[in-house]
Amino acid sequence: MSITNQREFFGIPPDVAYLNCAYMSPQMKSVGRVGKEWLSRKSRPWEITPDDFFTEAEESRRLFAELVDGEAEGVSIVSSVSYGISVAAANVEVGRGDSIVVLDEQFPSNYYVWRELAKENGAKLTIVPRPKDHDWTRAVLENMNEYTSVVAVPNCHWTDGSLLDLERIGERAREVGAAFVVDGIQSLGAHPFDVEKIQPDFLVASAYKWMLGPYGAGFMHVSERFRDGKPLEHNWVNRENSEDFTSLTEYTDGFQPGARRYDMGERGNFLLLPMANEAMRRILEWGVGNISESIGELTDLIEAEAARRGMEVVPKDRRARHMVGLRIGGSAPDDLASRLAEENVFVSVRSGSVRVSPHIYNDEGDIERLFDVLDRVVPGTHSA
Ligand SMILES: Cc1ncc(COP(=O)(O)O)c(C=O)c1O
Repeated sequence: MSITNQREFFGIPPDVAYLNCAYMSPQMKSVGRVGKEWLSRKSRPWEITPDDFFTEAEESRRLFAELVDGEAEGVSIVSSVSYGISVAAANVEVGRGDSIVVLDEQFPSNYYVWRELAKENGAKLTIVPRPKDHDWTRAVLENMNEYTSVVAVPNCHWTDGSLLDLERIGERAREVGAAFVVDGIQSLGAHPFDVEKIQPDFLVASAYKWMLGPYGAGFMHVSERFRDGKPLEHNWVNRENSEDFTSLTEYTDGFQPGARRYDMGERGNFLLLPMANEAMRRILEWGVGNISESIGELTDLIEAEAARRGMEVVPKDRRARHMVGLRIGGSAPDDLASRLAEENVFVSVRSGSVRVSPHIYNDEGDIERLFDVLDRVVPGTHSA
């Protein structure tokens, strides 16, 4: 079901065409209100009880699990994608001669840690080249074999939204015995994800993009087979019985159950998690499938307008519905993003692709404005 424009939930001024959710989502008014309430609670610490160290975190687990069709027991609270990916890297087994599979131009937070791990273990980092026909799924599958010990990929490429079929890649990962790690930050909240079907070992996303939450809070779903691994840090809260503040120095080898052992210290209970939770509740009310479909109507229009001007676009059947990359070619000025920004039109330029990432606060008028400016600043792109 397509959702009507929801700009009223956000504080975007009428003269701003913000088409850059893949960079950072604008804050919803209700999320800002929740943030202010929690910020002011710190002025009254006598009202903050030991229970408060746990309740919002448990609510986050429940909501994130619902968002990805997973289990609350499998959810850890992290600060960032790099934190979650580092937990994964600390727990997978990589031997000499093994291969770790990543994509060409993959985001650094899901790249460097694998390069380091490969170096430390005498393994090979297999970088899947960008396929000309945008079929990343085939390209990844062709690069997996019995030596693959980890496949660490996104749901869609951050530069242009080109999509991977994670169900098929996950199936192959299980066949070859590889750990399956997914960076979901550029899709969760705007693209349906089904943990039961895809079965990632680690699925990480932080909240500040498509999950419409604050910066500095993230979530990770961990498969059952990795729920007894090593946390990155040894804090007090992820240990068994941490609810009892009177016995924290009765040190224990035990952890909190499920994936809680991987929770970061000071996990944002008093500001970031309540804000992230408010945003997840709103997304679940709209429905991720509906959000995806509604944004898809806008990206289809962008694809059509771009094609009329001879720009290369990742076609609909190869991309996510919520993001589209336009390859304008040599005629684009180097400062294209700032020229657009001067006219209050906001997109990103990533690896030669103009990445347009609208949301349900955008409408056709915003897209008209984008192409109006492109027609003026990029020579030779006027529509045919
Ligand atoms: C694909 C992808 N992964 C991760 C991130 C952010 O990483 P981190 O949370 O480690 O800062 C971004 C930010 O643009 C991204 O596009």
